Amino acid sequence: MIEIRTPGEDDFGPLTEFDARSFGSGAYTPEDREMTRPTMDLERYRLAFDNGAIVGAAGSDPFEMTLPGLTTIPMAGVTWVAVAVTHRRQGLLRRLMGDVHEDIADRGEPVACLTASEGGIYERFGYGVATRRRIIEIDRRRSSIAERFRPPAGSVQLSGGAADGVVEERWDRYRRGRAGELSRSPEWQAKMRFLHGADAVTAVHDDGFATWKATPAWNEGHPAHTVRVLDFAAATSAAHAALWHTLLSVDLVGAVTSNLHPIDDPLPYLLDDARMMRTTGVNDGVWCKPMDIAACFGGRRYGIDDSIVLEVDGARWQIDGTADDARCRKVRRRADVVTDQAGAGALLLGGVTPSQLVAGRRAEVRDHGASRRADAFFATSPLPHSTTAF
Ligand SMILES: CC(C)(COP(=O)(O)OP(=O)(O)OC[C@H]1O[C@@H](n2cnc3c(N)ncnc32)[C@H](O)[C@@H]1OP(=O)(O)O)[C@@H](O)C(=O)NCCC(=O)NCCS
Repeated sequence: MIEIRTPGEDDFGPLTEFDARSFGSGAYTPEDREMTRPTMDLERYRLAFDNGAIVGAAGSDPFEMTLPGLTTIPMAGVTWVAVAVTHRRQGLLRRLMGDVHEDIADRGEPVACLTASEGGIYERFGYGVATRRRIIEIDRRRSSIAERFRPPAGSVQLSGGAADGVVEERWDRYRRGRAGELSRSPEWQAKMRFLHGADAVTAVHDDGFATWKATPAWNEGHPAHTVRVLDFAAATSAAHAALWHTLLSVDLVGAVTSNLHPIDDPLPYLLDDARMMRTTGVNDGVWCKPMDIAACFGGRRYGIDDSIVLEVDGARWQIDGTADDARCRKVRRRADVVTDQAGAGALLLGGVTPSQLVAGRRAEVRDHGASRRADAFFATSPLPHSTTAF
């Protein structure tokens, strides 16, 4: 008989063992546990037990998410989702997700989000892909920021670990200025610093920072190290150019890679040769499940002044929106766009248009006119982006 309950403090150690086994990510060290525990509120987690052993887990961590129009709403980041290999495909994930969603609804948090280990699992639970990430590789030796965009000397400094609070402040300013980005609590920031490791390097600009790690490849006298971007935040275009100039200036490096690059990042325009930024992949970023349609769609702002009726799983919502204001309420009027919860999740951050959803068989529109209006209404620029994995 499977028992599902909220974990107590004694369950945390076994939960980390279960997590390491489920994700094949290697055993937690005592330090891993010490850095991870403060990021979790166990009241928000549910564990499944069989004969006293953990066989399933799911939970959520609280964040704030920036929406189009640069408003923010509370967001529940669903995480630690796993079921033991011995208990798969018996409906345990479904039960755990049901309980965690109920907890999020009880807390009044309007949206649940996650980053997914696999793309085939979560649409059935009402999650739609709302942001995407570009995976890039740049041959540093053949790439440079065009001279007219290079920063004045001294505008970027290596933090040397001394810049306590500086990265945190830069992150907070940046994330409030970009739809899709999340708040990071002090505990979360500390865990990220720890996970990046002592050999990570952080460069700080007045309006941003970049963190990277180099993997050496000396190649018998022909050095071509790889630099991997681990974190990046630029609140201004000057900071963006200055930080990329720094990344492309690291000596002895061949490739600079990133798997958290925004889809519409302007870096190619800054390079002497735009083709040097190669896209090696595109992946989904954050998946959104709007739990409270009125709070989500009344909370964001819109590309044009209009009134659009969005039908989600049979309920119709009229959104009266402008660039500065919005209201969303239930109505009986005919719908302009018809979709389900996952489709609404994809639309929430403005990175996916209704016509894309229609083409992908995830939505229907009333007619061509409604499609054009709805595309302009929901779209946002720059595209939403989510850097933080949770
Ligand atoms: C993914 C995982 C949690 C699924 O757990 P589970 O208890 O076997 O899932 P359930 O039996 O409750 O399945 C629920 C539904 O999801 C589907 N599903 C489960 N795993 C799936 C997968 N990997 N890909 C596609 N669909 C999946 C099931 O077919 C079922 O569909 P239905 O109810 O619509 O018929 C489990 O396989 C696991 O722990 N994997 C490794 C860790 C991991 O990837 N976790 C996800 C982190 S984001």
